[in-house]
Amino acid sequence: MGERTPAPSRGSCEKQWDPALYDSKHSFVWKYGAELIELLAPQRGERVLDLGCGTGHLTQQMALTGAEVTGLDFSPAMIAQARKNYPHIEFVEADAAAFEFAQPFDAVFSNAALHWMTKPEAVVACVARVLKPGGRFAAEFGGKGNIEAIRHAIRQALRAPGIARDEEWNPWYYPSIAEYASLLERHGLAVRSATLFDRPTALEEGEQGLRLWLEMFASSLLESVSPDQKEELIRHVEDQLRPTQFRDGTWYADYTRIRVLARREPL
Ligand code: BEZ
Repeated sequence: MGERTPAPSRGSCEKQWDPALYDSKHSFVWKYGAELIELLAPQRGERVLDLGCGTGHLTQQMALTGAEVTGLDFSPAMIAQARKNYPHIEFVEADAAAFEFAQPFDAVFSNAALHWMTKPEAVVACVARVLKPGGRFAAEFGGKGNIEAIRHAIRQALRAPGIARDEEWNPWYYPSIAEYASLLERHGLAVRSATLFDRPTALEEGEQGLRLWLEMFASSLLESVSPDQKEELIRHVEDQLRPTQFRDGTWYADYTRIRVLARREPL
């Protein structure tokens, strides 16, 4: 096997996203966000920031409550699609680890995005800085143990004959409740509730589901190998996971979520 490109930077999320594919084949990502909106409970007239807004579907759902919502994402392609989807909403292309706004927010919301951000300390510092005292932060993302079975299968596949060993490609951040609560508290965000729970998640497109998931979300790994090696790798991962993650024609990703609600302490 030839040389791989280096693992992605551990900075802010630098993944290249395909918004059309994201919306058509992975809509479960934002469809699971409804409960988090309930937890945040946006109120009419409140200023709300949607951090890692993707193509803007949850930003729009929050805007329907009468809140004044701004979406922020690092991906120019996602922001372009969000503006096309919802031209009446403000969307900002920015780095979640280094952003500022002139006006503070009543609430910050983030669904299925923080596990892509490998500078969590900088992200939380930005969140704390833009919140009004008493402002809310509601977030859900991959927590400790997330996609353990998938990551194990990938590690095994990388050891298979013909596929070079490389354990440095994993681009995700999956903290425990204790780690994340401490991080929030260090930045003046008092935790009101925090849970870690398993949420096996059905992938779309039947037999193709795991392959499509890998192509979308593990692209940094797959793009670093030749087309033949990519096929071999995907087949290895499918073979490894089929006994536990494929049921009645559907693949399931072994997601574990951390869901937190915190409040900015008065200054
Ligand atoms: C997640 O939502 O937990 C996730 C999505 C893509 C890659 C890794 C994790």
